[in-house]
Amino acid sequence: MRTPHQILGPFFPVSSRPATQGDLTIVEGVEGRAKGEIVEVSGRVLDLRREPVRGAKLTIWQANTFGRYVHPNDSNPAPLDPNFEGFATIRSGSDGAYRIKTVKPGPYPVGPDWMRAPHIHFEVEGQFERLVTQMYFPGEPLNASDRLLMSVPEPDLLIAKPLWQGNGHHRMLEFDIVLARG
Ligand SMILES: [Fe+2]
Repeated sequence: MRTPHQILGPFFPVSSRPATQGDLTIVEGVEGRAKGEIVEVSGRVLDLRREPVRGAKLTIWQANTFGRYVHPNDSNPAPLDPNFEGFATIRSGSDGAYRIKTVKPGPYPVGPDWMRAPHIHFEVEGQFERLVTQMYFPGEPLNASDRLLMSVPEPDLLIAKPLWQGNGHHRMLEFDIVLARG
């Protein structure tokens, strides 16, 4: 099934340069590493026939471990992390595969009665189409009350699969992204 669309949201990066090697845990020219649980996300960009979509451009953005975006319109008082900008662009390989290393984003408030479940924003540009969506984390208590995740008929398609769970400081997830035509 096609990966469901999700809104672009208000925090598409405007003020930072994207990481281009898939590692969001370091900021070029800044000493140190991002705070938070290390998460490696890998998967494939596919079409509806499960054929790989080669050379798809993936733009990825997210909040830091405290739930704060590097964006001038983010009014969340949670702290910034000088070692995390949360913005990357990569391309899928010849087998449609992609991989990023990042940290788990914190939840953040949207109004008085809604905490967004941890999520990573993806924009995927294939040869024929563009998909904007959000990836969620498995076993996350906030998933069930996240209005955007629950707005799609098949929320499981947006929840990554656990591949490996480390000691609470590091995990690996799989998230395949399915376009209609590629
Ligand atoms: Fe977001």
